[in-house]
Amino acid sequence: MTARAPGEVGALRVAPSILSADFGRLGACVAEVDAETDWLHVDVMDGHFVPNVSLGPPVVASLRRYSNRFFDCHLMMSEPGRYLEAFARAGADGCTVHVEVGGTEGLIDQMRELGLRVGLAANPDTPFAALEPFLGRIDLALLMTVFPGFGGQSFMGEVMDKVAATRAAIDARRLAVDLEVDGGIDPATAPLAVAAGANVLVAGSAIFCRPDPLGAARALRAAAAAAR
Ligand code: DX5
Ligand code: ZN
Repeated sequence: MTARAPGEVGALRVAPSILSADFGRLGACVAEVDAETDWLHVDVMDGHFVPNVSLGPPVVASLRRYSNRFFDCHLMMSEPGRYLEAFARAGADGCTVHVEVGGTEGLIDQMRELGLRVGLAANPDTPFAALEPFLGRIDLALLMTVFPGFGGQSFMGEVMDKVAATRAAIDARRLAVDLEVDGGIDPATAPLAVAAGANVLVAGSAIFCRPDPLGAARALRAAAAAAR
């Protein structure tokens, strides 16, 4: 399986989150926003790390028939190591595990061995200090701007200090690491995240819950680009 390229590190990326799409017509929803999709954000919830369940590798494999974009799989799972190989086989390009679950060194090794781009996520109340030791070994830092588990929650502006600290560390060490924000991102909040240093913007409800998802994704990109 050849992984799709993530694009230039640090470039502005719009990553629609399929969690807010109509699961009964997921392929069509994904195809509809394709022209404004840099990465497709796939939220995987295990009902344990977060109080919700969503989808697994078979859905990723099915979606591969509808999109050739970079699949950015966000694993909100207590035991992601049990499923990484299945996601890689299904067509995931990058996987992101949460630092809160522990065993991070081994999970990073496992993702590298599988040829996955390596992401590490932190919840809103997890300090930068928890991510910092791994920054030199990852490709993507994902800072949650809501507590994970559900779409449609309100953006937590207080996370912007951590976004700025992470950006400062990435730049000071000249690391090839993308910085992603996830939760409550819309045309009003995206500029705040971009100004703080984020370059990958995940948005679910601000795209798929709008009457014109493609136009909404375009509006999000324009608002974010204006803040660069
Ligand atoms: C939250 C998920 C997010 C979610 C974002 O647990 O990780 O990716 O889908 O949804 P919005 O954009 O609606 O906050
Ligand atoms: Zn997510």
